[in-house]
Amino acid sequence: SDLGVVLVGFSGGQCKPGVDAAPTALVSAGILDQMRDELGYTLHGDESVQDYNQLRPQSDPDHRGMKNPRAVSAVTQGLSQQVYNQAREGRMVLTLGGDHSIAIGTIAGTAKAIRERYNGRKEIGVIWVDAHADINTPETSDSGNVHGMPVAFLTGLAKSEERDIFGWLEEDQRLSTAKLVYIGLRDVDRGEKKILRDNGIKAFSMHDIDRHGIGRVVEMALAHIGADTPIHLSFDVDALDPMWAPSTGTPVRGGLTLREGDYIAECVHETGQLVAMDLVEVNPSLEVAGASETVRAGVSLVRCALGDTLL
Ligand code: ARG
Ligand code: MN
Ligand code: MN
Ligand code: MN
Repeated sequence: SDLGVVLVGFSGGQCKPGVDAAPTALVSAGILDQMRDELGYTLHGDESVQDYNQLRPQSDPDHRGMKNPRAVSAVTQGLSQQVYNQAREGRMVLTLGGDHSIAIGTIAGTAKAIRERYNGRKEIGVIWVDAHADINTPETSDSGNVHGMPVAFLTGLAKSEERDIFGWLEEDQRLSTAKLVYIGLRDVDRGEKKILRDNGIKAFSMHDIDRHGIGRVVEMALAHIGADTPIHLSFDVDALDPMWAPSTGTPVRGGLTLREGDYIAECVHETGQLVAMDLVEVNPSLEVAGASETVRAGVSLVRCALGDTLL
């Protein structure tokens, strides 16, 4: 089958350099060769990593506390078109980031393509696997880093009139809060907790995983999304415990084991509903010893989501 590949060397959604080098590291580790040779995909899209950090507007002052707002907006707007173009052809789309701000573009792209594919009768569901909820509005964010805000812009909980600062997002690129489910949360800001509560957003924290086990949690998450809903899986590698993925910008202890992460990806694959996946926040430059392990963990998650089986 066909796989659209989008490689995004971009770090502007947060402050630590290096996350832009992840696609190159993942490709060097053989992720695309494995998709082709072992999983049998026909690859589409540009296989050379694009340096999205080059796409810097001349002047990009903070706006409503957001850092690099125009740069992140321009990159994600371009990405939304790139992912849409791949998804429109009926292809599964794999995006390798980059920091998690890029999900503004990738999810906008799949949301639009799926609405078109089903003449407005279906919309995507998103499974967001992460230590963080990434649902701050510019106003609730303490950091001003846009990688902590993508879900707010995608759901319309954060809105912008500025065309060059996410004002380009249109209704058919949006995600319904009812079609969103989180797995792995353990570092959610105070303002984010209120947003999740006020909007009745489904979320399974590490506490829920401890209580029910990963098997039940994935089952409940998929039940929430529904059996006839195309799924976009947005996987932040920091969902994994730093034991397995130490080389990431905002590590939080007490996370998923690599097997639990792989299990989530395997189950999403088994549904047959997966239409797109993001793998984000691998930062190969943060841990000297742990970088290659983090890259290997990322490769493993993607393999599982795209249909690798243990037997
Ligand atoms: N909640 C924090 C913030 O708003 C951390 C977000 C981390 N996000 C991520 N994609 N790693 O800055
Ligand atoms: Mn995170
Ligand atoms: Mn925090
Ligand atoms: Mn994230």
